[in-house]
Amino acid sequence: MAQYYSDFVMEHFTNPRNVGELEDANGVGEIGNAKCGDIMKMYIKVEGDRIVDIKFKTFGCGSAIATSSIATEMIKGKTIEEALKLTNKAVVEALGGLPAHKIHCSVLAEQAIKAAIADYYKRQGIDPTPIVGEIQDHHEEACDI
Ligand code: FES
Repeated sequence: MAQYYSDFVMEHFTNPRNVGELEDANGVGEIGNAKCGDIMKMYIKVEGDRIVDIKFKTFGCGSAIATSSIATEMIKGKTIEEALKLTNKAVVEALGGLPAHKIHCSVLAEQAIKAAIADYYKRQGIDPTPIVGEIQDHHEEACDI
């Protein structure tokens, strides 16, 4: 497990990809961490079964910003099915690791993507729970800021 931030994490933190809002989003998800107060909002645009565009806004720590950035890069252009398979573990691996006490920050990105996909299904009149599963909103894990 990494003890410090890798150069790749720092690069995504200082130059995050896909930041902002998507005006024509058809799925929006927001997830918060009750302890540290960090909030992530994810916007997706779905065409057919594919996420053709994605943007995020994070009011949170550097790890949350870096993981959102890489997670959006990893699922842009992918099918919903592929996006739902993205775990926070895969995101952390793609970043070259995170310090152990910052792993929980990566859960925000994973869950915000799920929340946006759930919102997309709700807008279609489809119950998202059997497809997306339970979403951990306002998870209470400790945040060492
Ligand atoms: Fe709260 Fe990282 S998400 S400290």
